[in-house]
Amino acid sequence: MGETSANSMWGGRFSDGPDAIMEAINASIGFDKRLAPQDITGSRAHAAMLADCGIISKADAKAIDAGLVQVMDEITRGAFTFSAALEDIHMNVEARLREIIGTPAGRLHTARSRNDQVALDFRLWVRDQCDAAIAGLDALMRAFVAQAEEGADWVMPGFTHLQTAQPVTWGHHMLAYVEMFARDRARFEDARRRMNECPLGAAALAGTSFPIDRGMTAAALGFDRPTANSLDSVSDRDFALEFLSAAAICATHLSRFAEELVIWSSAQFRFVRMSDRFSTGSSIMPQKRNPDAAELLRAKLGRILGATVALFTVMKGLPLAYSKDMQEDKEQVFDAADTLLLGLAAMEGMVRDLSANRPALEQAASAGFSTATDLADWLVRELGLPFREAHHVTGSLVKLAEDKGCDLPDLSLDDMQKIHGEITQAVYSVLGVHNSVASRTSHGGTAPDNVRAQIARWKEVLG
Ligand code: ARG
Repeated sequence: MGETSANSMWGGRFSDGPDAIMEAINASIGFDKRLAPQDITGSRAHAAMLADCGIISKADAKAIDAGLVQVMDEITRGAFTFSAALEDIHMNVEARLREIIGTPAGRLHTARSRNDQVALDFRLWVRDQCDAAIAGLDALMRAFVAQAEEGADWVMPGFTHLQTAQPVTWGHHMLAYVEMFARDRARFEDARRRMNECPLGAAALAGTSFPIDRGMTAAALGFDRPTANSLDSVSDRDFALEFLSAAAICATHLSRFAEELVIWSSAQFRFVRMSDRFSTGSSIMPQKRNPDAAELLRAKLGRILGATVALFTVMKGLPLAYSKDMQEDKEQVFDAADTLLLGLAAMEGMVRDLSANRPALEQAASAGFSTATDLADWLVRELGLPFREAHHVTGSLVKLAEDKGCDLPDLSLDDMQKIHGEITQAVYSVLGVHNSVASRTSHGGTAPDNVRAQIARWKEVLG
């Protein structure tokens, strides 16, 4: 029967081993060895359940459990030899178990298939990544809140089209990111809640005739319940798609702030100074401080989007139930999760270390006629002009200031009255940037008082 060349796990009906190229395309051990802890945890729970239900003997279960503990120990110590001939982590672990404990190892796979086994292992792994992402997001949000607290009332230009629009507060800008990352956190929590059902016991696709207790393994592995449909259990990768989708949105947020850091730290803006710990120098231009970490974050996060598209492409159009295509799920998710967690940690470090240049922010906030809207609002409020007319009058005042090469507050009352006779000295009070931001007290507005209330709320939420 060619036991030496055919696979010992399923080689019964094979007389020849696989072609070398077949082995190369088929083997997943090169990457799925990362699932070893989950695989062994799942197998230990499965063996305990089999014994409890009287499907294998207590003695065999004991031997299996001790053997699996030893296998895990060997893997942790780097003393385990992974073999591509054994395809994947599941068969590598089982083959080594057989070497260690002999015959009882063959009973572990009762009422189980690699299809439900891999669905379980991967789910456990992705569930851990959700927890890690949530922890990373919490740390990052705290860093943004600390920045907001320091500069709750510092003024800076708010932009639309990257053109100066209206003055806003530094704290408000920081808290905008807290809102985004809080939504990301909720997405990971939500995905985690939905994925927390145990597929183990679905077996190959149809369930099993053995009297297993799926509730027992589900509870032992921290799941809320077993999955309800065996076909769905082995063919579902929604949990991975949801993780990637949440990660892609989060990555998009991270990349937006990374981009702002790159712009803000330039000599043209000078809004912020990145710490030495997150900057690099140039080997030829001694004056340079490059925001490499922010640039790399901006770029690297594209990988997460790539992984998301890749896994959707794998899954779309797949018939039920398991197809080997699904083995292509892991590398994408591994890479995306690694990139996301590194990105969250790097961003947290950058935000913690960031020092905002308050005078530069304030100076920029005053430039570009940023209080033109305040002027128009004043004309509406004090002189009763319709907003459209006030907009027109303000436009003429901006043009006048532009012609004179000055800012709006530098125009004399005489000049202003030439454009609209009823303007009074009182108008100057709304042309300053501090008054401008202080007046934006509408719900969600940029006023320092609003910002302080939001900071208090977030500190409560984040603990
Ligand atoms: N290595 C496989 C995977 O990652 C495990 C499941 C294999 N199942 C099978 N019927 N060949 O998807």
